[in-house]
Amino acid sequence: MTTASPAARAAELRDLLHHHAHRYYVLDDPEIPDAEYDKLFQELQALEAGHPDLLTPDSPTQRVIGKVLDGFVPVRHAVPMLSIRTETDTEASGAVAFDARVRRELGLADTEPPIEYAAELKFDGLAINLRYENGVLVQAATRGNGETGEDVTQNIRTIQQIPLRLRNHREAPQVLEVRGEVYIRRDDFDALNERQRELIAQGAKNEKTFVNPRNAAAGAVRQHDPAMAAKRPLKFFAYGVGEVRGWELPARHSDVVDALHAAGLPVDPQRAVVLGADGLVAFHRKVGEKRDALPFDIDGVVYKVNERALQQRLGYVSREPRWAVAHKYPAQEQMTTLLDIDVQVGRTGKLTPVAKLKPVFVGGTTVSNATLHNQDEIERKDVRLGDTVIVRRAGDVIPEVVGVVADRRPADAPRFDLHARLKGKCPVCGSEIVREEGEVDWRCSGGLFCAAQRKQAILHFAGRRAMDIEGLGDRLVDQLVDSGLIRTLPELYKLGVAKLSALERMADKSARNLVDGLEKSKQTTLTRFLFALGIRHVGESTARDLAKHFGALDRIMNASVEQLLEVSDVGPIVAQSIHTFFAQSHNREVVEQLRACGIAWEEHDGHGDLSPKPLAGKTFVLTGTLPTLTRDEAKDLIEAAGGKVAGSVSKKTHYVVAGAEAGSKLDKAQELGLPILDEAGLQSLLKEAR
Ligand code: IVH
Repeated sequence: MTTASPAARAAELRDLLHHHAHRYYVLDDPEIPDAEYDKLFQELQALEAGHPDLLTPDSPTQRVIGKVLDGFVPVRHAVPMLSIRTETDTEASGAVAFDARVRRELGLADTEPPIEYAAELKFDGLAINLRYENGVLVQAATRGNGETGEDVTQNIRTIQQIPLRLRNHREAPQVLEVRGEVYIRRDDFDALNERQRELIAQGAKNEKTFVNPRNAAAGAVRQHDPAMAAKRPLKFFAYGVGEVRGWELPARHSDVVDALHAAGLPVDPQRAVVLGADGLVAFHRKVGEKRDALPFDIDGVVYKVNERALQQRLGYVSREPRWAVAHKYPAQEQMTTLLDIDVQVGRTGKLTPVAKLKPVFVGGTTVSNATLHNQDEIERKDVRLGDTVIVRRAGDVIPEVVGVVADRRPADAPRFDLHARLKGKCPVCGSEIVREEGEVDWRCSGGLFCAAQRKQAILHFAGRRAMDIEGLGDRLVDQLVDSGLIRTLPELYKLGVAKLSALERMADKSARNLVDGLEKSKQTTLTRFLFALGIRHVGESTARDLAKHFGALDRIMNASVEQLLEVSDVGPIVAQSIHTFFAQSHNREVVEQLRACGIAWEEHDGHGDLSPKPLAGKTFVLTGTLPTLTRDEAKDLIEAAGGKVAGSVSKKTHYVVAGAEAGSKLDKAQELGLPILDEAGLQSLLKEAR
């Protein structure tokens, strides 16, 4: 127990809480458990409640204060907030041109040494000026028109990453204005939109979903109720300074940023100091390669001449410094016109509305189709035919329509209704379409009678984690089904080189490859075969559980729903689905024919699972490239030991296995304080477990 005076104890608690908040929010490296922090926090709250005179504006208890605002008060910036010239040439030549211009303006001969640059990410959020006086945050303002912004102090105070006072606040400069970007991470953005959707579904009137993280961040910063702003997952990166009094700035920009970091502000760890055009080009390329794996959006990189003395020599043209440039990447979002909506039929008969777009260049390729997910999404985003829509394509993800530009809507743009458009019939086979209670998707009820479902079923059957048939891709499956050569899965194994070679554009060699691939696939495992059948709700891990539990296919085919329910992790829906599948004579026939073609696997007598399952109940997430194991191999090892491999990191994840170029999953794991293993760590865990 402490015997210190309340004032001394309050000061001590504030120091402790500032220290731990910095470790947690800025450095991502907490020293104490959350509960311990909460205890200190509550102690301070209690002290302040009993002694209101001890309250200080920089107390960690004072993040959310103040009341709902009607409008924002204008703030005249002591030093204008400039913008940067944008280099629109997204190729390496954009960087080369900037370096050449800087050298020319400085009058440097080719023989003189390369210029040093600070290279940074161009965060896609909104610019904020934080004013610290004697180390305490006194004001936060938006950029506005550069001369005058808006006072958003109340909302900015709710951002945990922004210190209410600087770390070395007792020796802090009289005035230090920190400039940087407020942004929202992509995963936080997804979760935010998910929550918004729930609110809307519950009937909330004034809620909406956001088109992108930048929009959501801007909305939150200009939110009139600070308590609401506090609920938005805002983050901050510092990248420069405004007015400074009482501090002799370091000579290089990169050292200024380092000093801000030391003062407790979050800065981007990917920033670098590079030399000359070559250094800029390499930075642009490196960041471009990992852009999609970054946890937040960027729209380019920023190059700044690092020596502040050189910056001064270069000066400004109109409102832009000559010493800095923003070098863009191809945009990941573009506007275009929605010409029509098509409907595609998937493997399980799922009907997906697909936007037919006026072709647009986005994320590095020309896009003319983008998914609209389902009818609910179309309604939620209020997408209408003829609308101007925003299309997003990031990395390898399927392009999607993320929203509409409502004020560009042509008069009487018609709504789209999937059921009405299809007149209730599957566009491929004409079977009735159905939508089960509580489901968002319409489905074709035609099953394998439907050519579209047949194609997808064949592709699934042939997939790498199923029968692994080499040489059987999309195009060929289209041809095989469209030409009528294949109607059922067993017919695949009856294809000979002669029949195949007769197909258009089919070379002898590819025909022979496929026949070899088919032959090789015949020796398989019960797990693969079960998974390959494409039974609804039977993914790979359920297939594995079934194979282990029953040991033989016949026992699975003849199992009652009750018996199926005995398998670990099989619930009523899955059990019913398996039972229904094998109750249909055409499915049993397909299985018999496949066996007759020579597909075989080892069976055992079904004592359930006899192998030890030391990792049972443990969930793993894999990210990045491991030095020797492929992702599939790592997955197999974990699953063989009874563990599960999930696609995304959450509080329920037990371990994250990270390799080279690990992305946002690793960040998330660090944020949640989860144990992180490398390949060697995984191997020793497996060994220990054995
Ligand atoms: S420096 C004089 N650095 O880009 C230079 N700006 O037009 C002033 N931005 O809205 C800005 N990342 O918020 C700088 N690393 C970075 C940046 C950055 C994003 C934004 C900034 C402003 C715009 C500049």
